[in-house]
Amino acid sequence: MEQDRYIIRIEGLTKRFGEFTVLDELDLNLEQDKVNIIIGRSGGGKSVLMKHIIGLLKPDRGRILVRNRDIVPMSEREMAQVRRDFGMLFQEAALFDSLSVEENVAFPLHEHTSKSYKEIMSIVQDQLAGVGLQGMGTKMPAELSGGMRKRVGLARALIMEPKIVLFDEPTSGLDPVVGATINDLILRTKEEFGATCIVISHDISATMKIADNIFMLYQGKIIAQGSPEEIRESSDPVVRQFIKGEARGPIQIN
Ligand SMILES: Nc1ncnc2c1ncn2[C@@H]1O[C@H](COP(=O)(O)OP(=O)(O)OP(=O)(O)O)[C@@H](O)[C@H]1O
Ligand SMILES: [Mg+2]
Repeated sequence: MEQDRYIIRIEGLTKRFGEFTVLDELDLNLEQDKVNIIIGRSGGGKSVLMKHIIGLLKPDRGRILVRNRDIVPMSEREMAQVRRDFGMLFQEAALFDSLSVEENVAFPLHEHTSKSYKEIMSIVQDQLAGVGLQGMGTKMPAELSGGMRKRVGLARALIMEPKIVLFDEPTSGLDPVVGATINDLILRTKEEFGATCIVISHDISATMKIADNIFMLYQGKIIAQGSPEEIRESSDPVVRQFIKGEARGPIQIN
């Protein structure tokens, strides 16, 4: 059925902060079991959009259907239930600073399962190995580099084997080698766990390689969407400008 193709459907989403309209009647359909990438300039509303998808922000107007259920009118209790299908890697990793690496990764298992400490630790060690952080479990977040923190955040996001994983800027601020490792992990998340991935990024070249669908957010709306090839060949001047700006280097003004 056509509507089952889309795990998330957003209709007419509007969000204002004071006088400032960040999202403006935005429509977006995200395909199940695919890597969906949302690109757009810094400050354009990508993180705000992502926070709406997991119900951390409520819109002024619009519907957000997760598996055909509108989450907008849901209570915090209902939302907590929906959120269990989600894994989330926040832009700044959002680790608990007072917990060690392994305690951070174990946290959702302690919260949401009745597994024993021993079982949990064994899962956590596997997960840490999966993101290339074996033996780092007893370190504290403050002792880690930015890239390592992102990987801990990723390990924690995946520990409950979520059906939908949101990645907010998973590769920004990382060197290209670590960035490529993270991209591999995103692909593995899709292929091995069969999860739908939603990746937010302003790094179009890094994401082109792993995307099934690319959406471009501009002035509060999705102004272009398609496969990487379609986006690359787009004649839309804003899209062209964005791709060109990227090609010139990491600093881009638009
Ligand atoms: N809680 C908030 N209250 C007021 N304004 C906010 C809030 N959250 C975000 N904004 C504003 O909304 C706009 C979009 O912010 P957002 O963080 O979504 O941008 P972004 O596209 O994720 O940027 P970046 O690529 O730099 O992460 C910004 O102008 C920001 O200042
Ligand atoms: Mg952001």
